[in-house]
Amino acid sequence: MPDPDNTGFAQVRTAIFPVAGMGTRFLPATKATPKELLPVLDRPLIQFAIDEARAAGVERMIFVSHPDKGAIERYVRADEDLCATLRERGKHKLAAELDDHAIDPSQEDVRFVMQPEPLGLGHAVLCAAEDALPGPVAVILPDDLILGGRGALAEMIEAYSFMNRAHLVATMEVADEDVSKYGILSVTGRNGPVLMADGMVEKPAPEDAPSRQAVVGRYVLDASIFDDLRGLPPGAGGEIQLTDAIAKGLERVTLGGFRFSGQRYDCGSKPGMLQATLAYAAGQEEYRDVLNAFQPTLLAAE
Ligand code: G1P
Repeated sequence: MPDPDNTGFAQVRTAIFPVAGMGTRFLPATKATPKELLPVLDRPLIQFAIDEARAAGVERMIFVSHPDKGAIERYVRADEDLCATLRERGKHKLAAELDDHAIDPSQEDVRFVMQPEPLGLGHAVLCAAEDALPGPVAVILPDDLILGGRGALAEMIEAYSFMNRAHLVATMEVADEDVSKYGILSVTGRNGPVLMADGMVEKPAPEDAPSRQAVVGRYVLDASIFDDLRGLPPGAGGEIQLTDAIAKGLERVTLGGFRFSGQRYDCGSKPGMLQATLAYAAGQEEYRDVLNAFQPTLLAAE
């Protein structure tokens, strides 16, 4: 828990990446390719998440994966043979880029744990309990891509260090008709990008939603979250919900929301993936001509 006297703060040393989901919304693309490896242009979603965790300075990354999704581990770990082949062929820049992206086991601490059954986000986080370093943990959902700013998790961890809240979740305002897609905060106060909250409910009906402040996939959670997840009954959708464990802990600990500075894209949905791809391309000079020349009517289905 953060220091109640605000004289220091517990360091966030672990990032947990729940990546065991089936990705049904992107079938058939995800039949053989994990959704976390779907690219935004040339960069898989998981790479953005790893880079965000690195920018936030975590020591250990724990991927909660599925036995059928071995491609994620192959992607994440360095491939020395591939880099050697590229160098032999004179492709030094490409080899260096691959090296930069991949996890270097001598420098970075990475673990893979399995979640064989899709029992929910809360269950996925609990699967990482034994491997988490002491202190609060970060959770990153790679589907929620946040572009711009200096990294949503880095911003959150900085805010966490002075906010004196046990749990901090990334939030953004959503339309009434969208509240049932998210965890929603019960907000008691606000100070700039920081919200105070006294409750959280998973995917409420619009008439039951305590606010329109939705949780997006970045969390900094007090280590007591693992105790609150143990033995938790299934909630919304019959799954063990992280939201329910956070809400349960509020009998003892505090909760805050944080509005990060970047733009969030729901890359678990096709429209969100398309928006993210266009935004990412628009930020790079080499694609400007293609975007400027694009005429949707020419490409409309016959
Ligand atoms: C999960 C969480 C939900 C959160 C959302 C953000 O839901 O359970 O509270 O608002 O991620 O993307 P999912 O989208 O996995 O159903």
